[in-house]
Amino acid sequence: MIKASETVVDADAAHGGHGDGNATRTVRVRVLRQDVAGGESYWERHEVAYEPNMNVISVLQKIAASAKSQDGRRVAPVAWDCCCLEEVCGSCTMLINGRTRMACSSLVDRLMAEDGEEIELRPMSKFPVVRDLVVDRKRLFGGLEKVKAWVPVEGSYDLGPGPRISPEEQEDAYPLSTCMSCGCCVEACPQYTKVEVVRRDDETEAEFEKRRKAAFNAGFVGPHAVSQAMLFNAHPTGRMIADERMEALTRQGGIQMCGNAQNCVAVCPKSIPLTRSIARAGRAATVWAIKKLFDR
Ligand code: SF4
Ligand code: SF4
Ligand code: FES
Repeated sequence: MIKASETVVDADAAHGGHGDGNATRTVRVRVLRQDVAGGESYWERHEVAYEPNMNVISVLQKIAASAKSQDGRRVAPVAWDCCCLEEVCGSCTMLINGRTRMACSSLVDRLMAEDGEEIELRPMSKFPVVRDLVVDRKRLFGGLEKVKAWVPVEGSYDLGPGPRISPEEQEDAYPLSTCMSCGCCVEACPQYTKVEVVRRDDETEAEFEKRRKAAFNAGFVGPHAVSQAMLFNAHPTGRMIADERMEALTRQGGIQMCGNAQNCVAVCPKSIPLTRSIARAGRAATVWAIKKLFDR
């Protein structure tokens, strides 16, 4: 097995380094860039000084600071999204060496040990690119809105203590509540295909939003939304609108679109049992359909 440090030393040698410490070591990066939404994408190579324990965000910070490509041309800094830097906010998802993952928790040493000397960065493929590695994830949040992924609480006055939840129910719900809307699951899902709606010249903002929402709703809602619907349907207060969630999950773009490929569960950084949620949603949808039949 090759150790990360050995790989880095090799990378240094390949770049003419003399192995005299971290200062001469480099990390090579290949970034798929796009200057504007809807524009052409192109590859650009960068090289930054290696430091122990770097993550992909620190590599991008170094690229931004130098604003130079590998061949020394002055270039605009690469744009990317991040916030918490501790795998909580879910904003730094990108394709790193072809795999959907969080830039903040992707360690350079490990990437180089597993995938070789050069790190490849691409934006997620299921959302429209805003610029470089920044994508527009409105549809991801639209899915949560569609299934009403919240506990409906009216007003800001004191409602008293909430209903009691048993430790068993808490244990069951907790993993689902760790979802950070990062989108890794939808990126890996073959049923979640890209929807990009471009505003027409003769359209108002309201008309465009309406058309875009309809296009989003026609596509698969996504495993994250299915799982959150199950989370809130299991909550004693959240289940007050369980029927509305089931209505959304059984409409166009609902649970019936899941092909059970299980890619989603394999890539979730929070190890959320998505296939368990999907199986639960499938059973709930059957019960819901029978109930509707008898309610006629
Ligand atoms: S199990 Fe369903 S939601 Fe998960 S990747 Fe497969 S098709 Fe997508
Ligand atoms: S279910 Fe997992 S992969 Fe999907 S959005 Fe939530 S945290 Fe990310
Ligand atoms: S920066 Fe928040 S999850 Fe990576």
